[in-house]
Amino acid sequence: MSGAPTRNLALELVRVTEAAAMAAARFQGKGDKDAVDQAAVDAMRRILGTVDMDGVVVIGEGEKDEAPMLGNGEPVGNGSPPAVDVAVDPVDGTRLTALGLDGALAVLALAERGSMYAPGSLVYMDKIAVGPEAAGTIDINAPIVHNLTQVAKARDKTVNDVTAIILDRPRNEHIIRAVREAGARIKLISDGDISAAISTCKRDSGVDILLGIGGSPEAVTSACALIALGGDQQCKLWPRDDEERNYAAEHGLDLEQVLTMKHLVNSSHTFFAATGVTSGDLLDGVRFDGERVTTHSLVLRAETGTVRFVEAVHNLRRLNKLSEVDY
Ligand code: FBP
Repeated sequence: MSGAPTRNLALELVRVTEAAAMAAARFQGKGDKDAVDQAAVDAMRRILGTVDMDGVVVIGEGEKDEAPMLGNGEPVGNGSPPAVDVAVDPVDGTRLTALGLDGALAVLALAERGSMYAPGSLVYMDKIAVGPEAAGTIDINAPIVHNLTQVAKARDKTVNDVTAIILDRPRNEHIIRAVREAGARIKLISDGDISAAISTCKRDSGVDILLGIGGSPEAVTSACALIALGGDQQCKLWPRDDEERNYAAEHGLDLEQVLTMKHLVNSSHTFFAATGVTSGDLLDGVRFDGERVTTHSLVLRAETGTVRFVEAVHNLRRLNKLSEVDY
């Protein structure tokens, strides 16, 4: 980023995630995942275009879901400095929104140009994430029980008290088994591991560690938040088949490499904003009340470590006169 990043870009990003969340939330419970994504992408793209930055999407949605994207390589912002890498997740939890389930977020993160890891077509990573107390103590190559013990020690509790949050997927069954054998507790989630990673940094969330295989884009995006929150994350690319193994070999992606925070996002100047689409442990969802729409967002800036929770009440009548976004 050119010059000292004294401007808190995250305060501008939150307008973008609010717009995406409001647009997506209109489709809550309507059973149409693509409509959720499309509405969020369109809103995000429109408002992003007004932000003073020369952004390039490094982490876009789309590789896995063939979602209507803000795709990788797409320029975003109005082109003025600073030059930044951008991670977008217009809705982390499109299925949750489509089904009216808890825990969906609209997410956007920035870091200096060239600092974000690009996983390409390798859409999954094995992940461990923990809060600040356990930062520096985790090892993704060690047995699960080791990491549970580390986080227990760091939080001054026993392994029996530790709660691991894990995406409920067949590919994570061996991890679920190992956590049970170690005697720790589990919170299974059907989607949304960005919120899950962040919850490890919130002492009162009831969650101590994120384990398991989830999306690669989500790992990089989560890293932007964890840098600001002082948490830690280690990941390894997780190819699904030989085609992906060959892809990794051809693109110089080392499947054995432990991707630490520095590998995922080599920056201490990240900006992160997330707005609740549906209500969850981290944030309340969008509430529509006639002309008034209420949103709840988390806004993070790594340099200062400031954590802001922003409640915004939007006036739809006025907004619809000014904005191209149809809320
Ligand atoms: P989207 O809503 O963007 O599809 O992501 C939801 C999510 O649950 C992520 O939080 C997670 O990292 C990823 O999907 C897991 O992928 P999959 O659903 O293919 O197992």
